[in-house]
This record gives sequence, C-alpha cells and structure tokens, in this order.
Amino acid sequence: MRKKIAAANWKMHCTLTEATALAERIAHTSFSLSEHQEVVICPPFVYLMMLRQMLQQKPHFHVGAQNCFTESSGAYTGEISASMLASIGVEYVIIGHSERRQYFGETSGMLARKLDMALQHGLKPIFCCGEPLEVRQQEAQNAYVLTQLKESLFHLSAEQLARVIIAYEPIWAIGTGLNATPHQAQQMHAFIRHCISEQYGTQPAQDITILYGGSLKASNAAELFACPDVDGGLVGGASLKAEEFKQIINALSAAH
Ligand code: 13P
Repeated sequence: MRKKIAAANWKMHCTLTEATALAERIAHTSFSLSEHQEVVICPPFVYLMMLRQMLQQKPHFHVGAQNCFTESSGAYTGEISASMLASIGVEYVIIGHSERRQYFGETSGMLARKLDMALQHGLKPIFCCGEPLEVRQQEAQNAYVLTQLKESLFHLSAEQLARVIIAYEPIWAIGTGLNATPHQAQQMHAFIRHCISEQYGTQPAQDITILYGGSLKASNAAELFACPDVDGGLVGGASLKAEEFKQIINALSAAH
C-alpha cells in the first residue's frame, strides 16, 4: 500500500516561542495512525533540530525542510545543503514550491539539480507542481504540469523516483481559501499517475504518493482524502493552528 501523508508547510511563520507551542501541542496529542500513514512537519530551517528532538520518539512523525541548495557545500553564503539537512536527521525536503519558483526564480533545471542533491544525500523530496490561474482558465493545466514533471523529475531512475513524493498544488488555490474541488484534485492526480505510468510503468505509478495542497483545511480534508488518487495533503495556513492540523491528521487516519 502506498504511503499516505499529512504534511505541514509552516512557510516563513512562527517565532521560536510560537513554533515551540505549536509543535508541543501536536507532539502531545496521540493519533491512531496505521503503518502506511505519516505526518511530516516542515518548519523554517532554524527550528528543524528542535522539531526533530521533540518528535524523535513519536511514531509516524517526521521532519522536513522547505528547501535545499543545488550544491553539497561551498562558498554559497546563506544557503543550506541537502547534506547538512541529512546530517541533523531531517528526512524530507520540499522542492519546487511555487513560492520558490515565483519569488526566488527557481527554474526547472535548478529543481532537477536539487532533486538529485536530496536523493544523493538520502532525503525524500516532496516535489511540488501545479498551474497558475490563467492556465487553468485555458484548461491547459495537464500540459503545464506534464512539462513540470518532464523538466525536473523524469531524468530520475525508477529507483530514485520511488523515494519521491509529488505534491500537486494549483497556484490559484494556495492561500486563497479556494481549494480545488475533490473532482478537480482527483482528475489531476489521476493524470499525474498516468504520466508516471507512461514514463516508468504501472507499478511505480501505483506506488508513488501524490499529495494535494492549496487551501486544505479541517473542513475539506475528508472529502479530498477520500479521492482514490489523493494520498494526503501538503498544508500551509491550516497547519499553523494546532487544532485544525490535528483534525487534518485525524481525517487522514480515517480516510484510507
Ligand atoms: P495553503 O494551505 O495556505 O493554501 O498553502 C498551501 C501550500 O502552499 C502548502 O505548501
């Protein structure tokens, strides 16, 4: 059975006090997660070590970074490498979030390189894809997402791909309160799985975890997680409220 994940992307939120309080409330709650269900918390870099320590003993809970650099080490002031993340016990890393593409000029080529780095150092990348509003309005989202996959992902071997998680995050749904409907999410997730199948074969396509992200919250998590090709979510705003995120985790544990 493929892995089902509730992932929290805290983005650039929380002071140390706030991060500690939020993490404690999650860490001190018990959930009934099964073997194939996981929770991944992706705080800003500066809180990764703390989160890892807090969650180390908690089964099914993992930490992830929100980015990593294209090189292993060197004179790149201000950057953080996949090898550094691996060395402090981080297991996951988000790569290619639309905010990184949009505000930091991250290109498909850079993302391909970041994926290589993450995999080389034993991290599990959460690779984000998704179309802007204009593309959705022209009903060209499938071609757009396929290009993103081709340009950054399809150079990987099947063995490497098996360690990647895909997150479909339509840009028009991020932070807008307007989530994709379960039908829209299911259609795109099935399409992504079809593309993986064409490139790598049926089994890798069946095995890959595809998360949905974009205004996912406690009130819509259950219906999105009920879609056959939606394997969980990458949650922004709603992951900053402990009660809300706990309900999302519970929706995941009830769903599959
Ligand atoms: P929101 O859940 O705030 O819409 O953000 C989604 C997201 O970008 C997760 O990576």
